[in-house]
Amino acid sequence: MKIDVIRAAPLKRKSPCLVVGVFEKKLRQTSLKEIDAACHKGLSSAQKRGEFVGKQGQTLFLPAGSHLVPENVLLVGLGKDKTFDAVVGRKMVAKAASVVLEKRLDRFTLDLDSFGKRLSSERLGQAVAEGVLLANYRFDQFKTVGRDEAALPLSEIRLIAQDSQVSEVPTGVESGKKIFRGVLVARDLVNQPGNIKSPVYMAKQARQLAREEGMKCTILGQTELEKEGCGGILGVAQGSEREPQLIILEYNGGKKGAAPIALVGKGVVFDTGGISLKPSDKMDMMKMDMGGAAAVLGTLYAASLLELPVNLVGIVPAVENMPSGTAYRPGDVLTSLSGKTIEVLNTDAEGRLILADALTWAGRFNPELVIDLATLTGACIIALGNQAAAVLGNHDPLVQGLIKAGQDSGERVWQLPLFEEYDEQIKSPVADVANIGGRAAGTITAAAFLKKFAAEYNWAHLDIAGMAWEEKGMPMQPKGGTGFGVRLLIEYLQKR
Ligand code: BES
Ligand code: MN
Ligand code: ZN
Repeated sequence: MKIDVIRAAPLKRKSPCLVVGVFEKKLRQTSLKEIDAACHKGLSSAQKRGEFVGKQGQTLFLPAGSHLVPENVLLVGLGKDKTFDAVVGRKMVAKAASVVLEKRLDRFTLDLDSFGKRLSSERLGQAVAEGVLLANYRFDQFKTVGRDEAALPLSEIRLIAQDSQVSEVPTGVESGKKIFRGVLVARDLVNQPGNIKSPVYMAKQARQLAREEGMKCTILGQTELEKEGCGGILGVAQGSEREPQLIILEYNGGKKGAAPIALVGKGVVFDTGGISLKPSDKMDMMKMDMGGAAAVLGTLYAASLLELPVNLVGIVPAVENMPSGTAYRPGDVLTSLSGKTIEVLNTDAEGRLILADALTWAGRFNPELVIDLATLTGACIIALGNQAAAVLGNHDPLVQGLIKAGQDSGERVWQLPLFEEYDEQIKSPVADVANIGGRAAGTITAAAFLKKFAAEYNWAHLDIAGMAWEEKGMPMQPKGGTGFGVRLLIEYLQKR
């Protein structure tokens, strides 16, 4: 999709549709009066009926009369101007884009001025670009029929800027495009079905991104993992025909020798639960159990495109969790890379086992800090639903930084406690630690387990179980993989 920034009078520019943002109770502007007059009084009558008053998310599609140059006008409600920010802007532009798509139009112009002055031109440009691109995403590579019945993707967007904005909007648009490319990588990976998406497939994708961006990529297979003693990864993988991979991606945009930030992502390409088998209902969704890995790879890619001045290491343990004659069983004891032994009481609590090794590996880089992302617990969905990821950690400034980045990016995170007392729940009579802690506080006991492998550095854990997959579909987010984490982490890295 092309996104251009032009200088023009919005109402004088030819287009199949002009998108105009409208703040609540600000419907008296001259430009809106002009639109109303040219669109058969469609706005004033919708206003009278209460159908459109500029409330956030309201839209009004108005076919224009012959007096107006644009063929249609789409008004999108922005809500109160006091509450308008980049998160609202992005969402409302996505909403507008989805209406344009429904109308089967493939291009529109957008009046940037109508989005007010609360955001800098650069930030507005970024939010608009992200909103349009996120709304336009689809995963249709396996559709051989019915493609033409679906709406065509948008091909060209023109952002109409005023003199004062013209130099800054394109900078924001370029950032937005790069961040989106990271989200795209993550969404495509999550949406890829399990038959395609083996651990080796994950490794190939990582290598491809590395090659494209000149990043360093190291991959360990079965033999190397055995040599190193990655008992957590090997234990989970042993039930699958597919070889596990430990993927290490390095982006060096910071000072030479400066301590890196390590990002660790759970990469379970399919989680059947193993011998502690999951119910078959909705098990197909478990192809998304590598959402953390996808976010890590997408973030390194976007960071490199943006040339962020930071050193990053991405660490992704990729495995498949299968039941079979060779699978690990409940009661097994694994020796992790750290040397700590783990009693496996439930083979479906596999994510923490592979993360244990990956977190130990992260320590080898003497990182400034470590953030792991994982679709780790169903309990997290019980606690927070699909509105926020859980964050827990051993370093409060890091946790607070992530919460702030969540507010600013719209990918929200909410803190849960990690009191020492929770450690009681994961004590094992036979090994150093058990891999489950009972029904109570499932998200917290999972993090308490990880904490034992992250003691040497500043660390935060993001449980994204409720965020990596969208069940119904929304304007900014069709059904399927969300790419959650990429925008959050980029925001964190940019503001740090
Ligand atoms: N991948 C799942 C968690 C999950 C569930 C993610 C639903 C997304 C949606 C994880 O490996 C798992 O199975 N966790 C168990 C842990 C339990 C056995 C302690 C769970 O949450 O039930
Ligand atoms: Mn599981
Ligand atoms: Zn899992």
